[in-house]
Amino acid sequence: MSYLKKSWNVVHNKTVEYAIYNSEDIFNPENDIMLIDSDIDGSNRFVVVDQFVYDIYNKQIENYFESNNINYKIVPFESSEKNKNIENYIKLFKQLDEFPINRRNEPIIAIGGGVVTDVIGFVSSCYRRGIPHIKIPTTLMGYIDASIGIKTGINFDSYKNRMGSFEPPKYVILDKYFLLTLPKRHILNGVGEILKIAVIKNHHLFELLEMYGTECIESKFQDEIGMNILNISIEDMIEELQPNLYENNLERCVDFGHTFSPALEMKDIRNLLHGEAVCIDIVFSTILSRVHSLITKSEEEKVIDLVKKLELPYYSSVITPELFWESIIERTHHRDGMQRIPLPTDIGEYCFVNDIKYNELVEACKILNSYK
Ligand SMILES: NC(=O)c1ccc[n+]([C@@H]2O[C@H](COP(=O)([O-])OP(=O)(O)OC[C@H]3O[C@@H](n4cnc5c(N)ncnc54)[C@H](O)[C@@H]3O)[C@@H](O)[C@H]2O)c1
Repeated sequence: MSYLKKSWNVVHNKTVEYAIYNSEDIFNPENDIMLIDSDIDGSNRFVVVDQFVYDIYNKQIENYFESNNINYKIVPFESSEKNKNIENYIKLFKQLDEFPINRRNEPIIAIGGGVVTDVIGFVSSCYRRGIPHIKIPTTLMGYIDASIGIKTGINFDSYKNRMGSFEPPKYVILDKYFLLTLPKRHILNGVGEILKIAVIKNHHLFELLEMYGTECIESKFQDEIGMNILNISIEDMIEELQPNLYENNLERCVDFGHTFSPALEMKDIRNLLHGEAVCIDIVFSTILSRVHSLITKSEEEKVIDLVKKLELPYYSSVITPELFWESIIERTHHRDGMQRIPLPTDIGEYCFVNDIKYNELVEACKILNSYK
């Protein structure tokens, strides 16, 4: 006897499309990039701005909206991994209720690093079941990575991005001049993600970093070669994200550097930045790749030499094989029951591995210690 009496299928296809614009002088009232597609006169904008950026640009931002006859509320947000939390998420809901905006034509504007754009992306995906948002990254991490895709999130219960969603922005605005005020540590933080793309996917980008990385870090990527490196990183990122925006395929090469880093970052949340944890993971995963007989010692050394040349971090005292084994177990759940660890097989080439053993982590930790 069949218990199934009838069924209904609901099918709906939604196209995801958003632009990533490169612009400059974005707070010039004549630059309408923040207001495209809007009925602007008299409309409202809820603008969340990284506190540091707010301190520098608040007068210009206010002038921008006033000159364009926009009723605005600016919410400064003190960014840090610790503040990417549920309390701030709820606070933003309350602030939105106090400054009501239309559900479709008054997008929230997020101006800041990866923390602001991740939190605002998540708020906008849930507020009234989804309202539009515009991302304007002001850190290198945001510029080449966090603002490009559709992932949003907040940390919860000692796990990175445990709560979150996939929420496409209305659009993204890149303006490299924001990078000029970034401290060197935060420039290097973003370089960690550029290195990820170089090691796993783009040998040419790796060579560019070898040749020009140091001067680009010095100039904060403002010169032509710096711009070229940023553009290549973004294009490679889009190439990986676009066909797999919702991560239906869990074998993602851009997860390189993100197998051990989530545990590392949360274990040392007061000291380690996201890109620093990613960079240490890149080094560790490269060593692991040699331990797993996928690359030679000379390829491993090439990566480590570049990391040292660019003054990127490659070691943390909190690393233990136990911590990294726990991270593999957690990532295995995240990757639906298989390790799916992307490891380099050469500079710019990769494969996915599902059979890393605890002893290999012990061996890789020993080798990492020898590079100290
Ligand atoms: N959604 C994604 O796909 C994705 C991808 C990568 C990283 N992330 C997330 O991004 C976060 C890290 O982003 P982040 O490194 O930008 O950190 P962040 O947002 O905390 O910014 C870092 C610091 O830079 C300051 N700052 C911001 N703009 C500045 C400017 N122009 N000049 C000077 N200081 C400025 C901030 O106040 C903060 O102190 C992590 O939480 C990570 O999980 C998300």
